[in-house]
Amino acid sequence: MTILVTGAAGFIGAHVARALLARGQQVIGIDNLNAYYPVALKHVRIARLIGAHPAFRFVAADFADQAALAAAIDGTAITAIVHLGAQAGVRYSIEAPRAYAHSNLVGQLEILELARTQRVAHLVYASSSSVYGDAAKLPLSVADRADRPVSFYAATKRANELMSESYAHLYRVPMTGLRFFTVYGPWGRPDMALWRFTERVLRGEALPLYNGGAMQRDFTYIDDIVAGVLAALDRPPADDDSEKPGGYLSPHAVYNLGNDQPEQLGALVELIGNACGTTPVLDLQPMQPGDVTATWADIGPARRDLGYAPATPLAVGVPAFVDWYRDYAGA
Ligand SMILES: NC(=O)c1ccc[n+]([C@@H]2O[C@H](COP(=O)([O-])OP(=O)(O)OC[C@H]3O[C@@H](n4cnc5c(N)ncnc54)[C@H](O)[C@@H]3O)[C@@H](O)[C@H]2O)c1
Repeated sequence: MTILVTGAAGFIGAHVARALLARGQQVIGIDNLNAYYPVALKHVRIARLIGAHPAFRFVAADFADQAALAAAIDGTAITAIVHLGAQAGVRYSIEAPRAYAHSNLVGQLEILELARTQRVAHLVYASSSSVYGDAAKLPLSVADRADRPVSFYAATKRANELMSESYAHLYRVPMTGLRFFTVYGPWGRPDMALWRFTERVLRGEALPLYNGGAMQRDFTYIDDIVAGVLAALDRPPADDDSEKPGGYLSPHAVYNLGNDQPEQLGALVELIGNACGTTPVLDLQPMQPGDVTATWADIGPARRDLGYAPATPLAVGVPAFVDWYRDYAGA
């Protein structure tokens, strides 16, 4: 029983790999350790996994490279894949779309080919709340249309779902796509608002707040996401022609993993200020291209099918992140 975790040096991948190892599973982690954000953070995440768990094997490889992926597996029989590696980030997709085509489109194809040739029992892959675009109706449901992406990142994530559906239909490989909603927490991503704001508040610098802070996000704590990923992994969709969440008849389901608690960005800033013991200075900026004004997950199907039950309010998660950040950054 070996599980392949892609993006294992990434924020969510490292947490998921750790949780799988903690419950006694063999894990191969793949990551190309790219420099989208400081590589030192990725090295530390991997070092913690290697140090704590002998059942973990890490391979630095590009999963969009067929030969490199095969060499990374090195003949090991893979029973399931948790595909969390990707070029993430909405804004960077406007300046560097080719990075997204490589990792998210070619990369997804290579992972699907691996799932097909290895006949894995389940492929769980990351999608994103960004697939909904600037939807008029909230909360966002997997039953809603999702064909008006407002960034190329979102377009690649929606493409991942459609590419997966073609493989689930043709080859009957069970698959689950998870639309994550603004994941945050310790060991998080330096390009995301919580990290950037905390860094600036602790340095006494002004915070660039887009759209006057009037944007809403369904911030979801990493521990809740990890629980959702593992619950999904343990419940591959049946190949029984019944309609699954997302509308598919193949063994393929798509779920929202959010917190069902949308919060204004202004509330996030206030919580960061409280956790840092200071009042943040704001630098009000216009809305950025590619951004959406609000996200809010309808998590009904995930609650029903996966027993998903997010339990961390922002008021608990933000101080937990700030404590971790101060320790990590020595700030
Ligand atoms: N964090 C969030 O709020 C969020 C929200 C929605 C969706 N997602 C999705 O969840 C997944 C995990 O996101 P994350 O926040 O952990 O991001 P992350 O950037 O921390 O992790 C992704 C990892 O994938 C690796 N990677 C990228 N391209 C690769 C390639 N071609 N070969 C091998 N490794 C490659 C990167 O080096 C990185 O370590 C991604 O698919 C992302 O799009 C994240």
